[in-house]
Amino acid sequence: MPEPTPEELARLATSEIPSGDPMPIFEEWFALAKQSEPNDANAMALATATPDGSPSVRMVLLKGHGPEGFTFYTNAQSRKGTEIRANMQAALLFHWKSLRRQVRIEGPLVEVSPQEADAYFHSRPFVSQVGSAASDQSRPLDQRSTYLDRVESIEAEWAAEGEVPRPAHWTGFTLRPRAIEFWLDRANRLHDRRRFTLTGAGDAVSWSDGLLYP
Ligand SMILES: Cc1cc2nc3c(=O)[nH]c(=O)nc-3n(C[C@H](O)[C@H](O)[C@H](O)COP(=O)(O)O)c2cc1C
Repeated sequence: MPEPTPEELARLATSEIPSGDPMPIFEEWFALAKQSEPNDANAMALATATPDGSPSVRMVLLKGHGPEGFTFYTNAQSRKGTEIRANMQAALLFHWKSLRRQVRIEGPLVEVSPQEADAYFHSRPFVSQVGSAASDQSRPLDQRSTYLDRVESIEAEWAAEGEVPRPAHWTGFTLRPRAIEFWLDRANRLHDRRRFTLTGAGDAVSWSDGLLYP
């Protein structure tokens, strides 16, 4: 490997993750990921835990984000839903392999309003609405044909309307970030990490941040 130039060494000694506000950094990285990921740049691991501290993790899709937080939709009677109802805290993880970057987000969850859940549920194609309404997500399924029979019957029931009523247990949650951490692959495995934490409460909140050893 060629020796790094003085300019490269100087660059390596400086963080490429700016201090200040994490949200514009997330926006920039997410925009890059949408251009470079082969699919589902909005896929993220969602970690939840039971009140006694047993963790579980699965992928979900980010369906909205902004200063208020990061929103995903799911079946609230699923394993994750049951854990969330009992312990309204979670962690999210994006790993964009094409960029060699990671973002970790942690904080409490709040449920979206019924109006928001309705709007998102009905923005999905009819077949997706049918599939969600027919699924007792995370519960045992005796055989696949049972699920397909349910799909067929819900499809027949609502085909004329062109949309399925949103099941009350199908909803969304917004994670309100209290901590966001960015990880960036750098030369010679001297990676770059910056963690932002929200301090204060109500209107008096602000982000502080610092570097972490990778
Ligand atoms: C890329 C990807 C995206 C997914 N998106 C969602 C989603 O947005 N909502 C959801 O409920 N499940 C989604 N799933 C399925 C979940 O990973 C999981 O299998 C399901 O929600 C049941 O999880 P649970 O038993 O922990 O509740 C997705 C799976 C993959 C692989």
